[in-house]
Amino acid sequence: MDNNTLIPAELLDEPLVYPAEAYISKDYAEAEGDKLWSRVWQIAGRVEEIPDVGSYITYDIGTDSILIVRSTDESIKAYHNVCPHRGRKLVSTPAGANQAVGKKDQAGEHPGFFCNYHGWTFNLEGQATYIHDKDDWKGALNENNTCLTSVQVDTWGGWIWINMDPQAGPLREYLEPVASLMDPFQFDKMRYRFRQFGIFECNWKVALEAFLEPYHVAATHPQLSKYGDYYAYSKALGFHGNTGFDTRKGGDTSSSDNSVHRAAKGADPRVSIAQMQQEYWDTIGASTSETLVKTAQTLVDELPEGTPASEVHHYWLDKARKVDAERGVIWPEISEKQMADAGLALSIFPNFNIIPGPTFGLYYRVRPYGTDPDKCIYEAVALDLFPEGEEPQTEWIHAEQDPEQWPFVIAQDISNMVEVQKGLKSRGFRGNLPNPHQEKKVTNLHRMLAYYMGTGVPREME
Ligand code: FES
Ligand SMILES: [Fe+2]
Repeated sequence: MDNNTLIPAELLDEPLVYPAEAYISKDYAEAEGDKLWSRVWQIAGRVEEIPDVGSYITYDIGTDSILIVRSTDESIKAYHNVCPHRGRKLVSTPAGANQAVGKKDQAGEHPGFFCNYHGWTFNLEGQATYIHDKDDWKGALNENNTCLTSVQVDTWGGWIWINMDPQAGPLREYLEPVASLMDPFQFDKMRYRFRQFGIFECNWKVALEAFLEPYHVAATHPQLSKYGDYYAYSKALGFHGNTGFDTRKGGDTSSSDNSVHRAAKGADPRVSIAQMQQEYWDTIGASTSETLVKTAQTLVDELPEGTPASEVHHYWLDKARKVDAERGVIWPEISEKQMADAGLALSIFPNFNIIPGPTFGLYYRVRPYGTDPDKCIYEAVALDLFPEGEEPQTEWIHAEQDPEQWPFVIAQDISNMVEVQKGLKSRGFRGNLPNPHQEKKVTNLHRMLAYYMGTGVPREME
């Protein structure tokens, strides 16, 4: 055991190696519940999922299940989803569903969460309000030994975050500096456009890491290379990290260069921006917006041939902002510097990664499936800013680990996952050799994992 070593972030600039243990060891996977998942802030859902008093969702993580409920107009409560009587999971997750969703009516004789086994019932504050034949306990049952066990809960960015550790520090503190980089995008105002999940045959880290770096784009998504180089910087930001497009020469990159809606490479930027946007829309279905895609198609008619790429880019974004405003979608004010600082994609330790845009976000959340190191729950989510009152009603769509059931680009990423999981078990694999410039987000994930798990510290290559 390495004894919870936290290597200095500066060491991530060096060529490092770390073992395959975190992905394939049964012991490691079983220890994650105690050492990692019960101690970190993690996304349990979106605030929009529990709009009314009594609305609830569940969030299963490893062997734990959390019940999250809107207890008043202003407050959300979270509890361990277990009945204190004899341990039945209080709210069951329907087979094949990602979570239980519902609403508890507060009227009636015994309102609230009813345990199917012996009928104990709990109100939204987690107190037992009905215990069948309570007197048989001779007065030993009281508020403290019959209430649901509370879990820390908070909100930020429109997400509901939970932490099972009663001693955990504040959410905001945990999320910095990434929360400040993401604030300008106002994700709290966005809503689900689609959300899809699957149970995949690989470790959750394998699935997550497929999206943590653009170093894989040239080989995994060769069709995207015609729009530009995907050479990227990758930074550790405390527990978390981000990436952005970079030049091999180094130096500063402006927001138009390093964010997801950068100008595309090509002889005529009016055409190449339109083509790239259409390709994103057709093959990812996210990472851009319908307005940006449609507006890009008009550039060739509205701008003279020879307009420099940066001018085309600014014109395009300005026009899309106006088009959106006309339909009631007001872009948040995001300065060039804020856009540049956020970069292409931000990750929050341990299991979240988002590609941010002015009116959209594409994110991935990945979790273990029980304690099986070879399985995970993988989710891809698109958020959008909608005109008020036009937000769609969505629910989790289940998809197999079948390329046909995912957008083309994500399917390309998925195609590597099972093969990586198999390869990591090879007796001939000597350990991971992440790119010190372009894959630092991955190495930082393992730096933080080593700190929590007490094993697997990235070490300098010999
Ligand atoms: S286990 Fe819930 S009432 Fe008995
Ligand atoms: Fe990819």
